Amino acid sequence: MDILTFITAPLIISLLSGSLALIIVVVDSLVNNYPDFTIDINNGRKKLTTKGGSSLLVTLSSQGIFIPSACGGKASCGACKVKIESDVGAILPTELPYLSEEEKKDNIRLACQIKLKKDIKLLIPQDLLYVRQFDATVESITELTYDIKQIRLKLLSPDSIDFKAGQYVQLIVPPYGQIPEKTQRAYSMSSTPSDNHHVELLVRFVPGGLLTTYVHKFMRVNEKVVFTGPFGDFFLRDTKADMICVAGGSGMAPIKSIVYDMYEKKIFDRSIWYFFGAKSTRDLFYLDELKELGQLMPSFHFIPALSNPDHSDNWNGETGLITNILDKYLKSVISNSSQKEAYLCGSPGMIDATVKVLNANGLVSEKIYYDKFA
Ligand SMILES: Cc1cc2nc3c(=O)[nH]c(=O)nc-3n(C[C@H](O)[C@H](O)[C@H](O)COP(=O)(O)OP(=O)(O)OC[C@H]3O[C@@H](n4cnc5c(N)ncnc54)[C@H](O)[C@@H]3O)c2cc1C
Ligand code: FES
Repeated sequence: MDILTFITAPLIISLLSGSLALIIVVVDSLVNNYPDFTIDINNGRKKLTTKGGSSLLVTLSSQGIFIPSACGGKASCGACKVKIESDVGAILPTELPYLSEEEKKDNIRLACQIKLKKDIKLLIPQDLLYVRQFDATVESITELTYDIKQIRLKLLSPDSIDFKAGQYVQLIVPPYGQIPEKTQRAYSMSSTPSDNHHVELLVRFVPGGLLTTYVHKFMRVNEKVVFTGPFGDFFLRDTKADMICVAGGSGMAPIKSIVYDMYEKKIFDRSIWYFFGAKSTRDLFYLDELKELGQLMPSFHFIPALSNPDHSDNWNGETGLITNILDKYLKSVISNSSQKEAYLCGSPGMIDATVKVLNANGLVSEKIYYDKFA
């Protein structure tokens, strides 16, 4: 396969499947004349009257209720779970990979896979009723590495956002090139809640990826964008426990937000050990900033590690897989007498491997919090 085919094939596949889905929706709405019906949310706390035919996810967002949907409704993230309290038909094969046996018994379903055909009752976390849609303008785009860009958004309407450090937003980008539909994906905020008129995101380029191709090749300063949020339960727990943070690549975003938020709030009584894994020096960023933070906040220890440094890197820091470095520090550097919590962010593979190391060193899974960038 040549490089051009490698890059364009996923875009073409997405384009074809997107077009097919659109045709099916249009034909369906012409053939089936759906009546008005009611969506009852949280035992009558909110009641919506709407037309049928679309997915529950799309219908709710058209009515200002935003359910997390990292994949934009393609049944490939499992983020859009809701509890259904009425009959909506059997679980679809597309939902099965994301539902545990317990969730199936509990009538948890993927909102993007439920098509609205009659009145429906559902339960969602109360916080989701406060998620808003924001109009913003791209204030700056900064290249942090060859494949990670920092996007700084200035909020226009509403012009401020309340969130907890570590949470994420759903960025929505317009149709572009041969992509006929809007695309939305999840991005953690790397800025702190104190700057509530701005949101910063770190977006790593994924070859063939719809949204990251837009951000890296088409997005321009001053253009308008839309996002929804805040979402997620990856945020600092209010305890006195010491913290083990582990991230790789753009997984830096929520951890950066959390540690700078702690600095701003003068939370200096919890040791923070932040392990950041990269291949070589060209994958490192914010090194100077985080080293400086360590000087301002002695409870913060930053340990970047390279798994595959080049000779030309002149690297004299830690070398090896981040999980091995973590294991070494847990066994020989970090005191094992204190209570600990872990905050992890990055690829699913990195997180699964890190959880194993933490468990083997005595951290129970209930004290390990993470966002998998899947
Ligand atoms: C809670 C959360 C927070 C996140 N925060 C961040 C963050 O801060 N920074 C960050 O960079 N990422 C983050 N992510 C990941 C992000 O949401 C996106 O998944 C990622 O940026 C890729 O998006 P994309 O649209 O470019 O790729 P996609 O279009 O979703 O494609 C992903 C992969 O699938 C392939 N593909 C696409 N369509 C098809 C198809 N039809 N058939 C076969 N293959 C296909 C692509 O080639 C690519 O390899 C987060 C994810 C979650 C769940
Ligand atoms: S939105 Fe991703 S699975 Fe439903």
